[in-house]
Amino acid sequence: MISEIKLNNFRCFKSSSISLSPEINFFYGANGSGKTSILEALYMCSSGRSFKSSNVQSLISFDEEVFSITGYDSSRGYTLQIIKNKTNPISIKVNNTKITTSKLIKEFPATAIHNNTFSFANAAPDFRRKMVDRSLFVSDIGFSETWFAFYKTLKQRNSIIKSRNINNIDPWNKKFSEEGEVLHKKRLVFFEQSLKEFKDILSKLNPCRTTKYLEQTTIEYSPGWDSGLGIYEALLENQSRDLVRKTTTTGPHKADIKININNVEAKQILSRGEQKILSILWCCSQHEVLRKIYNINATLIIDDIKSELDNTTFEIFLDLLKHLNNQIIFSCIDDHFSSKIKPENKDFKKFHVEQLK
Ligand SMILES: Nc1ncnc2c1ncn2[C@@H]1O[C@H](COP(=O)(O)OP(=O)(O)OP(=O)(O)O)[C@@H](O)[C@H]1O
Ligand SMILES: [Mg+2]
Repeated sequence: MISEIKLNNFRCFKSSSISLSPEINFFYGANGSGKTSILEALYMCSSGRSFKSSNVQSLISFDEEVFSITGYDSSRGYTLQIIKNKTNPISIKVNNTKITTSKLIKEFPATAIHNNTFSFANAAPDFRRKMVDRSLFVSDIGFSETWFAFYKTLKQRNSIIKSRNINNIDPWNKKFSEEGEVLHKKRLVFFEQSLKEFKDILSKLNPCRTTKYLEQTTIEYSPGWDSGLGIYEALLENQSRDLVRKTTTTGPHKADIKININNVEAKQILSRGEQKILSILWCCSQHEVLRKIYNINATLIIDDIKSELDNTTFEIFLDLLKHLNNQIIFSCIDDHFSSKIKPENKDFKKFHVEQLK
């Protein structure tokens, strides 16, 4: 995990160094002070990309040619350097050696919750699927091979379906179902482990109206095909529909996590605050699985924690902090910890963003 970060010509930061806690980090400050920018830089240390802009060049401070982010992980003695100048592609190095983003996430795993992705329940299925996949990429050495093999076969099958020349489709159906089965099983195991943690965390929180509500929520893994059938049988059954739609309509690439309350989709029922706390709890559950089962400490980054949350729901978050063991980094406009005692028994660091410049 990142214990120190240095920003140079990154957005509104000319030159700033921040020493982070391995546990709880809180950034506060007025609009435009740079909270999102700091969290964005920290998320870049895991993903190599920004959660805010698709154009990395826009992160270079105005009138400058290059930004750099330097990270240090004191527990392992690892260094990280991200450099982007206007003319060259982004360069990412761990311990002075170039690294791809798919390897970077394994070195510095992190999940970010920000205003565009605060609702896990309201997002598209691929968002929830990718959340599970990302954790598997980090924790399971064989997962990337499994994943790439399946998606390559899916692409092949789709081009056969599109060509409508399906005489030789059977070997592809078999390959698809074999590789899909391996992928599905890995996802299902991780999902079940996460669900167990989710229930466990929920049971530890002080009961209130929202936690009672969340206890009524059912979270189920939906494999992406009629689970009464094998994948191969499901492909055969849906082949004519696939030909009409010109794509493979069933299979593990359609997997989802279904969240329901009284058999109605949670996004139709839950308030925005309830959706946000549900997302936070789910991320924490996945991170607990990574920590407990795979000994991986992933960082949770939450921008603008207080938006959507009223005081009661914010109390759930504060209560949650007591039960977390991983690094967490979050921001807010106001200093919500001025009158509160810092979270018990935790290494808590508070930063006034204006003073970091
Ligand atoms: N490339 C850039 N160069 C210089 N300044 C920039 C650049 N990109 C963004 N900024 C400015 O950096 C400042 C900090 O933005 P940021 O989004 O981090 O603020 P924030 O503290 O999260 O504010 P809010 O509370 O409104 O979310 C803003 O004034 C923004 O206009
Ligand atoms: Mg912001």
